Amino acid sequence: MTEPTVYEFSVPGRSGVTLAPLDVPAAELPADLLRDDNGLPELSQLDVVRHFLRLSQRNWGIDSGFYPLGSCTMKYNPKIADEVARLPGFAEGHPLQAPATMQGSLALMHRLQEWLKEIGGFVAVSLQPAAGAHGELGALLMMRAYHADRGEARRRVVLIPDSAHGTNPASSAMAGLTTLEIPSDARGNLDLAALRAACNESVLGLMLTNPNTLGLFDENIGEIARIVHGCGALLYGDGANMNALTGIVRPGELGIDLMHYNLHKTFATPHGGGGPGSGPLGASAALADYLPGPVSSAPTPISRCMAARACGRTRCTPCSTRTTSA
Ligand SMILES: Cc1ncc(COP(=O)(O)O)c(C=O)c1O
Repeated sequence: MTEPTVYEFSVPGRSGVTLAPLDVPAAELPADLLRDDNGLPELSQLDVVRHFLRLSQRNWGIDSGFYPLGSCTMKYNPKIADEVARLPGFAEGHPLQAPATMQGSLALMHRLQEWLKEIGGFVAVSLQPAAGAHGELGALLMMRAYHADRGEARRRVVLIPDSAHGTNPASSAMAGLTTLEIPSDARGNLDLAALRAACNESVLGLMLTNPNTLGLFDENIGEIARIVHGCGALLYGDGANMNALTGIVRPGELGIDLMHYNLHKTFATPHGGGGPGSGPLGASAALADYLPGPVSSAPTPISRCMAARACGRTRCTPCSTRTTSA
């Protein structure tokens, strides 16, 4: 249904306001300031309210529908998270701004990095990727570079379970790699015999979501890591379902070499209307140097003071890096 513009339903002489009677003597405006060609629409208040209400209802919004992102449906994230993201210190920061003027934001990002390292059991984290799929692509490029540096550029095959999310093979294709599908067994886990048969010196790595997209935790994760590492490949964790593991198990300790987190899923990073999200990458010691940068370094004395203020300290004492409520 098309909505007319305010000019199309303008009616000469109609007005949206009734002014109170004058309680001062009337005074004419100077003639040279008067004009009748200003072209403004003449509308009643109700016409205007209904017009803009109809237009507002055409916007996609979480008050009337699900929370979308490019590749999947999203859980509801509280609106307070959008408000925080709109704080001028975040929203008005510029990528080329001098770091000295960004120490508050950088200190908070650094703290987030440290928490993610702790939660995931990784040695280093980069906050650069802007969505889960972006993290996948970054990770595959890291894996390529890692193998190339070891004289194993021939590793071009990515093993992907048949239960995987569509972004996994898509990212793999974008990274210029070939995918090989690994079937699930009768319990919905990765078929170990098929994985063993597929794992060889042309394999770059396995992309594994655990719990997988069927909602099942693959109980063979230890054996999967042994098989993958046994053929010289890397184990990538698709961390989209990390909310099921957070505080219970750390993927880095399960043998996962690198993993993306979807902060808009596991936590509450806003991504209204389809983006941006946030897909930080965590890496083991062997892959830490390949993370996309810049990665924020340890706070300087100045930023430590700012971080201390942000966590409510009146003196420049360090904020705790551990927290029980995120
Ligand atoms: C298992 C899995 N992997 C990857 C992604 C991609 O994440 P994003 O939508 O943030 O790009 C999703 C979500 O959509 C997912 O469910």
